[in-house]
Amino acid sequence: MRLSLRKPDDWHLHVRDGAALNAVVRHTARQFQRAVIMPNLVPPVVTVDQALAYRERVLAAANSGGAQFEPLMTLYLTEKTSVEDIRRAAGEATIIGAKLYPAGATTNSDAGVTSLAAIDDVLAVMEEEQFPLLVHGEVTASHVDVFDRESNFVSGVLDPLLRTRPMLRVVVEHVTTRDAVNFVRSAGDSVAATITPQHLLFDRNHLLVGGVKPHLYCLPVLKRASDREALIEAATSGESSFFLGTDSAPHARSTKENACGCAGCFSAPVAMELYAEAFDRAGAMDKLEAFASEYGARFYGRPLNTQNITLEKSPWTVPDVYPFGKETIVPLAAGETLAWRCVDHE
Ligand code: DOR
Ligand code: ZN
Repeated sequence: MRLSLRKPDDWHLHVRDGAALNAVVRHTARQFQRAVIMPNLVPPVVTVDQALAYRERVLAAANSGGAQFEPLMTLYLTEKTSVEDIRRAAGEATIIGAKLYPAGATTNSDAGVTSLAAIDDVLAVMEEEQFPLLVHGEVTASHVDVFDRESNFVSGVLDPLLRTRPMLRVVVEHVTTRDAVNFVRSAGDSVAATITPQHLLFDRNHLLVGGVKPHLYCLPVLKRASDREALIEAATSGESSFFLGTDSAPHARSTKENACGCAGCFSAPVAMELYAEAFDRAGAMDKLEAFASEYGARFYGRPLNTQNITLEKSPWTVPDVYPFGKETIVPLAAGETLAWRCVDHE
């Protein structure tokens, strides 16, 4: 069986820089027309000039083989971010928003924000300019259980923020809980959420039962089966506030299979295949195209893509590793047999 879809976009992606960038971005360009490129490099992408320079490097790495991939850049918010840079970014068509990392929440978030009060001037300008705030929604206080960090952020940070700034456009990135899904539903048209393939396909039992699986470790961490059910229901509901964002986050095999393994699932080579798996299992293949190719563009006010991709239902086995500079990288679902395959290229 074959299914033709409008070419999708990935509204949340990490591609790193240098050799890693060259190794991973082609996987995304194979399936997606556009992707929102996360700014958590070392050092982070904090200014418009840095974002535009990074965009050139992403373009060069992605399109050397003739692809027409379009990176959409983000700024990394710090407590030193200036309102001038935000105003300038809002006027740049290739910069799509600014990313809020609570300091210490995840990979390369040390330069992030310790309290929203510290960036209130910037948030005011973002609300005025309708320049989207992309949120890593987890509190970081050490006494808060890692499985509760998203729910606490939603009730304790996001809800008060939107009461103060009701016109702010917010994307709650990689939602993982029923609480976050319910919040997004209740929040109106200016609030949306991305959903990753790992949070649709796996829960914390997959991560922890029968041995720890480092390649399923990401942040926010996988939650309960009941949370996963809420995510599947949201993704396949046809509600336009939920759309595709893989959060594909490449880390070399040696840093994942490690006594202190890095957070991040590398899903780029199998992204549409995994979403198709999740939607097919839910009996909702008819909802995949809008989730993958329409709702995100609509939220960000971008045109729909005009090309198509083809998914074919024919079993194949995901490779164990891919090259990653001088190292290797293990994709999500490595060695597993998947039902769907994206067949246009390669
Ligand atoms: O698992 C994750 N990995 N979550 C994040 O928020 C960041 C990402 C990364 O950059 O590796
Ligand atoms: Zn991310």
